[in-house]
Amino acid sequence: MRLVFASQNKHKLLEIKALLPPAVGLLSLPDLYFHEDIPETSPTLVGNALQKANFIYDRFQVPCFADDTGLEVEALDGRPGVYSARYAGEGKTADDNITKLLLELKGQANRFALFKTVIAFVGIGEPTLFEGILEGNITLDKKGSNGFGYDPVFMPAGYSITLAEMSTGEKNKLSHRAIAVKKFVEHLSILSL
Ligand code: IMP
Repeated sequence: MRLVFASQNKHKLLEIKALLPPAVGLLSLPDLYFHEDIPETSPTLVGNALQKANFIYDRFQVPCFADDTGLEVEALDGRPGVYSARYAGEGKTADDNITKLLLELKGQANRFALFKTVIAFVGIGEPTLFEGILEGNITLDKKGSNGFGYDPVFMPAGYSITLAEMSTGEKNKLSHRAIAVKKFVEHLSILSL
């Protein structure tokens, strides 16, 4: 079976490729010669995941899934949440987002945070949603150079290294995205796909 992953994020694609069974013929957007950004204008992770998956399904008519992820920081009342990508402003880098986060948490003892991923799957039956959550803490400094986004400042609960200090294989054993993808894979197997 062929499935499109509706994301231009190469890091997400690599993580997801490693988590899907070989029987799934995963197509990326570059495989479809689609290089534009996909609109994500909803105020919720669910809304954005559905918007991205529907946008690509409408265009290519191939079953499609998309993820939307947010970092929710307790001391910031759940911010940046759905606005994690644009936390430091439109067009800013992951490094700018991290710098802003560390500044906002300066002197803050409560560093509890969680990543939440929502995957939306459209094109076969009703649209379906899968969620994954990873709890942890925001570190005082950046550590590690693997992964992407906020990985250098996120230390999963029970670990003494950040996600950016883990290999893709290690991150995929515990991450929010991996948890959501596992639920999605179970759903595909129930559909006998
Ligand atoms: P989106 O799901 O692509 O909208 O991502 C929202 C924001 O969260 C972006 O700044 C991403 O870089 C960041 N992000 C998404 N997934 C991860 C992850 O697995 N680790 C660290 N940051 C992430």
